Amino acid sequence: MSNSLVTMSYIAATILFILSLSGLSHQETSRRGNYYGMLGMAIAIIATAMSSSVTAYGVLVVALLIGGSVGAKAAAKVEMTQMPELVAIMHSLVGMAAVLVGYANFIDDSQTLTGVEKTIHEVEIYIGVLIGAVTFSGSVIAFGKLSGKIDGKPLLLPARHWLNLALLVVTVLLGKWFLAQAEDGGGTFPLLLMTLLAFAFGVHMVMAIGGADMPVVVSMLNSYSGWAAAATGFMLSNDLLIVTGALVGSSGAILSYIMCRAMNRNFISVIAGGFGTGSAGAAAVVEGEVTPVSAEETAQILLAAKSIMIIPGYGMAVAQAQHTVYEITKLLREKGKTVRFGIHPVAGRMPGHMNVLLAEAKVPYDIVFEMEEINEDFPHVDVSMVIGANDIVNPSALTDPNSPIAGMPVLECWKGETTIAMKRSMASGYAGVGNPLFVMENTRMLFGDANETLQAVLGALRS
Ligand code: TAP
Repeated sequence: MSNSLVTMSYIAATILFILSLSGLSHQETSRRGNYYGMLGMAIAIIATAMSSSVTAYGVLVVALLIGGSVGAKAAAKVEMTQMPELVAIMHSLVGMAAVLVGYANFIDDSQTLTGVEKTIHEVEIYIGVLIGAVTFSGSVIAFGKLSGKIDGKPLLLPARHWLNLALLVVTVLLGKWFLAQAEDGGGTFPLLLMTLLAFAFGVHMVMAIGGADMPVVVSMLNSYSGWAAAATGFMLSNDLLIVTGALVGSSGAILSYIMCRAMNRNFISVIAGGFGTGSAGAAAVVEGEVTPVSAEETAQILLAAKSIMIIPGYGMAVAQAQHTVYEITKLLREKGKTVRFGIHPVAGRMPGHMNVLLAEAKVPYDIVFEMEEINEDFPHVDVSMVIGANDIVNPSALTDPNSPIAGMPVLECWKGETTIAMKRSMASGYAGVGNPLFVMENTRMLFGDANETLQAVLGALRS
């Protein structure tokens, strides 16, 4: 394929990626956004494979077959609730690719660059390996934390901020040393040492993040993986990779900022780690009596209500209860009730988790509201159905300054007339804190798997 054809294909792929991102920002257009992205990626792969820079077709085909089948198998097998873990481990691959491409470039003796161009190339290698190594180890730890293989509690080393600062200074000094040695064809030792330090930094950065702040870390690593891809693009002189990496890097950074704002967190504090760990004292212990209800009683309460708010959380995803939720919603609306959904920005385990599930179950978009839009309405709500949610409806976030989730805005359902909370036990949620909502006077607990209890409620409503 001629160079100009490759460039044109790259421009087409870039435009498709931009259209994909804009499509993904609305539920109505997200499916189209996905198609644009898939088409853009197909064009990018074909154009790169046909370009003059590729000669080892045998290796390429084997790599594509292995990578493609592992990816297809993982995508087919993954449960919706495991999606954030899959995303985290995918980010780690982008990071590792940047490290390997960096080393391949470093040992490649066919390079003929001289003077400033050579120095720029060496800076690209150093930065590429640095970002890649931090992304790799940080994403592996994020995977461990999200899948429960590593304890979610923040690891708070003494003087950890000084440690981070020292690592940064040493990395800069090693960079200087690397550039000086690379002039004469050396530099392996400082590059290796920096790689090890970057791995350690990635581990430390994510280990220090408290449970409820993980959403920000996942989107931050998403951003890092974009910058790692852009760095790889510079090393390989591939414009498409630079543009795509920059798109992912900047959109990930914007998402991290939005998540921080939604959780009332300071971006720098989250990155510095250990934010919201309540250093002033222990979180308050929840005491009181719970009031259980049956599915039949729940149906009666719903039939007596006019305005109903449904608050889905991670448990709805685990129970795959969204279709039953839709059936109940349809029935209640047919009976003339106002049914709305209140979605917390970090409900579930990934951004937009609940919206995806509700869209899959065909819940109309116009009754699904963001937290900001409906939080003031709770005093006028007759019944809130909290389906497998915990942290996102925890009043102690607003009242207990020692709580790990202190300061995070929550859906204030307790201000309504009655709350029905559905979960299997009194176990805590992701942040590991007790929830006083469950022992409030106007709260009723409907215990059991969300899908099974909702099926029973649906049955009772129908009869
Ligand atoms: P959680 O606080 O994790 O609470 C979910 C509740 O669902 C649990 O208390 C659990 O109680 C219940 N549950 C689990 N399986 C169930 C089932 N089959 N049927 C009924 N209930 C079930 O979830 P949330 O309220 O959605 O809050 C999200 C949390 O995850 C926040 O802390 C957030 O920071 C964190 N997080 C979010 C993200 C993103 S981006 N959304 C990413 C990482 C972490 P039982 O065990 O008693 O049933």
